[in-house]
Amino acid sequence: MPRLADGFVGELKDRIDLFDIVSRYVQLKKSGSSWVGLSPFNKEKTPSFYVHPQKGFFNCFSSGEKGDGITFIQKIENLDFYEAVEYLSREFNIPLRFQEGTSSLQPLGQSLRKELYALQEMVKDWFHEQFNGNNKESETARDYWINERTFTQETAIQFGVGYAPVDRFALGKFLRKKLIPDHILAKSGLFYERKNQSDWVSIFCGRLMIPIREKLGRICGFTGRKLSVTPEWGEKKAPKYVNSPETPIFLKGQLLFNLDLANKAINEQKDFLLVEGQLDAIRCHTEGFHTTVAPQGTAFKDSQAELMRKSNPRRIVCLLDGDEAGQKAALSYVPIFLKTGLDAHFATIPIGSDPDQILVNQGKAGLQKLIQEGQTMVNYVCSKILSSNPTPQEKTRVGDFFFPPLAEMDSMVLCDSYLNEISVTLGVPSSSVKADFNKYKNNRRPVYQERASTPSSQKKPDRGTERLTTAEDDLLYCLLHDVRLGRSLAQIFDPSWLDTKVVAGRILGKVIAEISADGPLSIPEMEELLEEDDERFLFQSIIFQENEEDPDQNIIELANHCISALFVRQSRNAEKNLLNNLQENTSTSLSTDDLRAQLKEIRISRKSPPQIFDTELEPKP
Ligand code: UTP
Ligand code: MN
Repeated sequence: MPRLADGFVGELKDRIDLFDIVSRYVQLKKSGSSWVGLSPFNKEKTPSFYVHPQKGFFNCFSSGEKGDGITFIQKIENLDFYEAVEYLSREFNIPLRFQEGTSSLQPLGQSLRKELYALQEMVKDWFHEQFNGNNKESETARDYWINERTFTQETAIQFGVGYAPVDRFALGKFLRKKLIPDHILAKSGLFYERKNQSDWVSIFCGRLMIPIREKLGRICGFTGRKLSVTPEWGEKKAPKYVNSPETPIFLKGQLLFNLDLANKAINEQKDFLLVEGQLDAIRCHTEGFHTTVAPQGTAFKDSQAELMRKSNPRRIVCLLDGDEAGQKAALSYVPIFLKTGLDAHFATIPIGSDPDQILVNQGKAGLQKLIQEGQTMVNYVCSKILSSNPTPQEKTRVGDFFFPPLAEMDSMVLCDSYLNEISVTLGVPSSSVKADFNKYKNNRRPVYQERASTPSSQKKPDRGTERLTTAEDDLLYCLLHDVRLGRSLAQIFDPSWLDTKVVAGRILGKVIAEISADGPLSIPEMEELLEEDDERFLFQSIIFQENEEDPDQNIIELANHCISALFVRQSRNAEKNLLNNLQENTSTSLSTDDLRAQLKEIRISRKSPPQIFDTELEPKP
């Protein structure tokens, strides 16, 4: 596995202004020497997300998240450390540097996910070659794309559109020749599960292939559209679209087709356009509707709405089929948008048409007109529930529809504005709607009972105000706030005193071992020893931790306090072991007398734990 050159991570952090990283996700306002905005990790009304570009760290008071630019990218894009480094190097044009002797040709990480991304990219290229091939099948695919669908070669290149040949063994043979190991092929989602046969059978045969990319633009799967050459499935007709199954990188609920491109164009003044099909999304994009996205032909999920919310659009405009299925889908989207805090409009497409056909037949103006005729969520739902002369029962059903998602909204201001809109639309006093809503809220189970059963909604501890818990945490705090302690610690402290089940214990273990071997370390040098995310996150969280309770607390005193506590703890453990040995007499190599002598020594030494003295330290720089 290639390793990054020493110091590269520090260089990357130095060269990129944290403001430039964060401002892509959060609208920031100047506040003294810092910047402040709404937390991207928590929904909030009052900004409590602070960015300190000069010090290179952010602090989110509502979620307790803290860290540097890499941590920020890891959290917001859900990447591991190396992926975040790669991402920043790509986005800010700072080429990765590797340690000598390690190649940069292989993918950086060695994880399965990275291998799978690389494989999908290779397969996309192969499908695209097949699309451009000099044979009847390829011609059929090109003819469909260019003549029947009126797309262009440029669009095929831009989106990586390709063709999967009818020969169901061809892809497997190609990848075998490229020496892709079987365990990777097995997880790729491109093949049927192998039973006894040794060949890999492709799930995509005789189809137009459209790569599906995740939000960073990496290909994670494919969808294949039926063509005239597509073999039928025995007695059954082959489906119009075949999609990659779920794999470690193809998680349908976490994906929106075209989000990688749409995210480049979206901002708080623009709307996401949500369409049903991938080809609709491609058409909209090529016609200039750059913020179009599509779910993966499956039910739209909260997590997909959350993906859109992260990009801070003005609202979502849904372009859904006028048929019954499309309208039912649209109604099911409303509660999802409300709960996520997204505003949405619904534009209904005439039955039998879709955004692609509208653009082909009526041009941009045709679609623009439909978008302008879009209804607000309240209007849309009311138009579905209410007849032209609504009965009181119908009006109650509007409340039944809206109250559950409104009760889950974080923002009371938004909730109130929806209740007002409902009362206007129903033509009833807003006081009545609000009274009904409050009655609904008071009658349902208390929120915390519902929340308690879903672990995902558990609130993270607020590290900003919480006192550190273990002696390991506190000792790490001391070391990171006065690195001079490192040398003394290496002399008097034995890493076996640390509890390695505690993250801070593992960090201290690595750092102290390294100082013992090679001498004092700077903070960036310490950070380079850490490979696990939990270690890096804690490390940064502690670096940026201010001792709010007692800013003047003497660090050396606190360190000695921790050293004593850890020393006494290990001493008691040793004592317990000795006593056990004495009782059971299990120790074969030592006599009872020896054990007694050791016990005495332990008890005496416990009275004078090792200490660090001010005078031993170099003067503060
Ligand atoms: P449609 O049947 O409306 O197709 O399905 P479409 O997008 O207009 O496709 P074209 O224009 O005929 O080529 C809408 C979406 O539902 C999913 C696909 O994502 C499709 O784009 N779908 C449909 C499937 O996943 N499988 C199917 O068999 C059919
Ligand atoms: Mn279509």
